[in-house]
Amino acid sequence: MRRLTVPEIQARKGREPVVCLTAYTAPMAKLLDPHTDILLVGDSVGMVLYGMDTTLGVDLETMIRHGQAVVRGSVRSLVIIDMPFGSYEESPAQAFRNCARALAETGAQAIKLEGGRRMAETIAFLSERGIPVMAHVGLTPQAVHRIGGFKTQGRQDKDWQPILDDAKAVAEAGAFATVVEAVAEPLAAKITHSVPNIVIGIGGSPECDGQIVVSEDMLGFDAWAPRFVKRYADIGGAISAAAETYAAEVKSRQFPGPENIFTMKEKPSKS
Ligand code: KIV
Repeated sequence: MRRLTVPEIQARKGREPVVCLTAYTAPMAKLLDPHTDILLVGDSVGMVLYGMDTTLGVDLETMIRHGQAVVRGSVRSLVIIDMPFGSYEESPAQAFRNCARALAETGAQAIKLEGGRRMAETIAFLSERGIPVMAHVGLTPQAVHRIGGFKTQGRQDKDWQPILDDAKAVAEAGAFATVVEAVAEPLAAKITHSVPNIVIGIGGSPECDGQIVVSEDMLGFDAWAPRFVKRYADIGGAISAAAETYAAEVKSRQFPGPENIFTMKEKPSKS
């Protein structure tokens, strides 16, 4: 088994949809990997695993640690490391230094960063130096305070052009793929048909070249999930039910049963 490559993902444009999910740990990566083309080690790890309110508190060391786990747990999917807030925006040189570290220390194949036109120069700098870049436009969670919340983008005609310009700029700069998050469906479809790179939707359009969601959202870990997520399981419910039964069995001394305890090899001596 070998991993999918960036050119193989690029060749899917207008053909077969690209299946992407987030992963932060080795066991989750192992379960998802047979079914995915891309595993994104998203900075959403801060909110999903560490209980943060936003992704802004996630640092590069955390992303590298989780990236290493996902690479260890997978064999087939292309693994992408999300660059955390503050690790790439300052200059192309800062971005190259930190992206190179993320790839070298994890064994992942590509990085993702947020931003459109303002990041085009950096995307070109990284791509020219051999770092495959996935861009991210529309709702960019690292800009949550400027946007004023996790708000859907492009719901009025007047808002379309800047987002379209962002998607075109990052594709022109060399991004092999672009995540388009939480934008009005017709705009996501238009972007997909207007750019030559792979467009991955999250709250986008079925016409996008692929889809991504946060795995814990689609698996139903929490009672709440964004509107653009479809729940394919109720893992949260299954964990609650299992914990409830475990607690009852501990209290009633049903657990551990004879099959869960160790007997002596010899009869205990009477002393
Ligand atoms: O951080 C993340 O998980 C993401 C995806 C949801 C696109 O950016």
